[in-house]
Order: sequence, then C-alpha cells, then structure tokens
Amino acid sequence: MTAISAAAPDDLLPAGLLDFLNCATPDAWVEAALANPELLLIDHAQCEKKAASTAMSLLYRYVDRPLLMTKMSQLAREELLHFEQVVKLMEARGIVYRHLSASRYAEGLRRHLRGEEPWRLVDILIIGALIEARSCERFARLIPHLDDELAKFYRGLVKSEGRHYEDYLMLARQAAPAAIEDRVAFFAEREAELIRMPDTVFRFHSGVPA
Ligand SMILES: [Fe+2]
Ligand SMILES: [Fe+2]
Repeated sequence: MTAISAAAPDDLLPAGLLDFLNCATPDAWVEAALANPELLLIDHAQCEKKAASTAMSLLYRYVDRPLLMTKMSQLAREELLHFEQVVKLMEARGIVYRHLSASRYAEGLRRHLRGEEPWRLVDILIIGALIEARSCERFARLIPHLDDELAKFYRGLVKSEGRHYEDYLMLARQAAPAAIEDRVAFFAEREAELIRMPDTVFRFHSGVPA
C-alpha cells in the first residue's frame, strides 16, 4: 500500500488542486481500479461523455454569458475528443463498450444545488471544478501503475482536466455576486465524504470499495 502513496506524481497536478480537494483518493480505490481495468476504462469513457453533456447543457441554458459559452463550447469538444480516445484505446484492448449505471458521486453533489439563480449556476460550476479536480487527482494517482500507453494518455489528461478545474472555478467566481469560499468549502466537504465512504460498486468516482 505504501508503494502506491510513494509513487503519487503530485508534481503533475496544477498548484492548489490538492488543497482544493479535502482528501486524497484512498489507496483501496487505486487497488480496485488496477484490479478492474475494463470497468475503469468503460466508466472513464462514460465520464468523458457526461462531462461533454454537462458543458452542452450549460451552453444552452446560459446564453447571456459569453465567456461561459466560449469555455463550455471548448470544453464539450475537448471532452468528446477524450471520449473518442478512450473508446479507441478500449477497442485496441478488446474491451467492449457497455452501459454502466452511474455512480452515486455526481448525484450526491447535485442534490445540494440551490434553486435560485445565479446561485444555481455558481453551485453547478463549483461541482464541475470538484469533479474535474478529482478526475485529475485520480489520473495522477494511477499513472505510476499503468502500462506506457495508458500512462502517456493519462498524463495528457491530467493537464487538460487540471485546466478544466481552473476554468470552472474561475467561472464560478465570475458568476457569483459575492465570495464563494463558504460554498466551495461546503461542496468540498460533501465531495470528500463521497470519496471516503464505503461504496458497493466500483466506478471512476466511487468511494472506498466495500
Ligand atoms: Fe476529459
Ligand atoms: Fe474535463
């Protein structure tokens, strides 16, 4: 177990990302990911597709925010490209794409969304920042244990998901009429709970394998 922690390449992560997340991914999750390489890649593909779809829905909903629209349009394209890259890698490895139920993670965060604007948007953007940051951290944690091809791919993803985290956080600050630090702390704590709690299913964003 210590080998996993010692090998974590934190230097690949954007500054401040590990402080933004309230806890590190548990070693038990990393072990489960390495024991379930097919599930990991299939759910990873789903996450990329979902990330594109979230960006698209913001693009439709908030047409009065030019910077948000530009960023979400770029994000949707980039996430779909990641999706295609994962699917291609799966095909090369003989992994057949199939539907997987969603993990409790995103819904566990979205259930705390406030109803009134602009706070609803601010919350969605903070959650986006957390999901991107966690994905980034998990890719970095996995890299030392992967084959060269997958490690190289994930190294590239650490960079882009790290940028997405920064963009979401910047957009959240821009959309908010007041400081968002309390709200960031609130969601970071909910996120850490989901990561630390036992989970019966393994997914890219699942908790500690039960
Ligand atoms: Fe992505
Ligand atoms: Fe992303």
